[in-house]
Amino acid sequence: MPVILITGAAGKVGAMLRTRLAAPGRILRLADIVPLEAGPGEEAVTASVTDLAAMTAACDGADAVIHLGGIPLEADWDRILDVNIHGTYTVLEAARRAGVPRVVIASSNHAVGFAPLDGTPVPDYEFPAPDTFYGVSKVAGEALGALYSRRHGMDVICVRILACVEKPWNVRILSAWLSPDDCGRLFEACLTAPSPGYRVIFGVSANTRGGWVSLDEARALGYEPRDDAEVYAAQVLAEAAAAGGPGVIPEHRYLGGEFTGPNPPRV
Ligand SMILES: NC(=O)c1ccc[n+]([C@@H]2O[C@H](COP(=O)([O-])OP(=O)(O)OC[C@H]3O[C@@H](n4cnc5c(N)ncnc54)[C@H](O)[C@@H]3O)[C@@H](O)[C@H]2O)c1
Repeated sequence: MPVILITGAAGKVGAMLRTRLAAPGRILRLADIVPLEAGPGEEAVTASVTDLAAMTAACDGADAVIHLGGIPLEADWDRILDVNIHGTYTVLEAARRAGVPRVVIASSNHAVGFAPLDGTPVPDYEFPAPDTFYGVSKVAGEALGALYSRRHGMDVICVRILACVEKPWNVRILSAWLSPDDCGRLFEACLTAPSPGYRVIFGVSANTRGGWVSLDEARALGYEPRDDAEVYAAQVLAEAAAAGGPGVIPEHRYLGGEFTGPNPPRV
């Protein structure tokens, strides 16, 4: 019976995947520092991604790991280094020791946040252009994934997620939205694509105002987005207008948006 370990399962993306990746004959092993209650077809593990012994035990018998656990915004370097960079090393090393053949890592658009939005989609495998220490941690995770894939023969897919939220709440997200259902479809493709080797893909829906990034590599794995943030556009634009309008924000010249500005969102 396939067992999928999900780190950071108590978070926003974890909650979306928990329902969408559930399948008959599959066990979702949910790990987080926040205690979780396991439902049918689930197991719960309370552990930090920085604890190698606990992660190795959590990987025991798993067929794949989805690594979401960590700090999702800008933070002080020491915390980013420990939780995001050391934590991603720890999860990959644990997977290797336990013989898990596939790891899917939640990377981020902020690994290439300073890629310009000049009308041409940012290509798959765009060279790193992190916009924050957080973005640096995602680049480090991609590099660690490349190492473990090429040295140890593991399948490692790094997903440069744009904005994965229940629904768009600002103008930028009208272009950057990854809907919960498309998120489920994307990670399902990452779990089931035959022998992917090492990949770096973008994660975004089929937004009318999108086209910011390539989806070629995601599609090559079997992902086909179905959702479009445009259904929320009238409401989001009306709210932005009521608040004084979205204005021209210099940071929006770049993929990373406000993360490229002087005050990136912090935990
Ligand atoms: N949601 C997005 O739009 C988005 C965009 C790009 C990348 N990502 C990445 O996707 C992943 C999930 O993001 P999210 O939005 O669900 O964030 P989130 O903060 O809601 O979830 C992160 C989870 O990680 C857990 N966590 C924190 N430190 C941990 C540790 N030491 N050990 C184990 N678990 C720990 C938290 O308790 C939380 O449940 C993150 O890696 C984030 O960087 C998310």
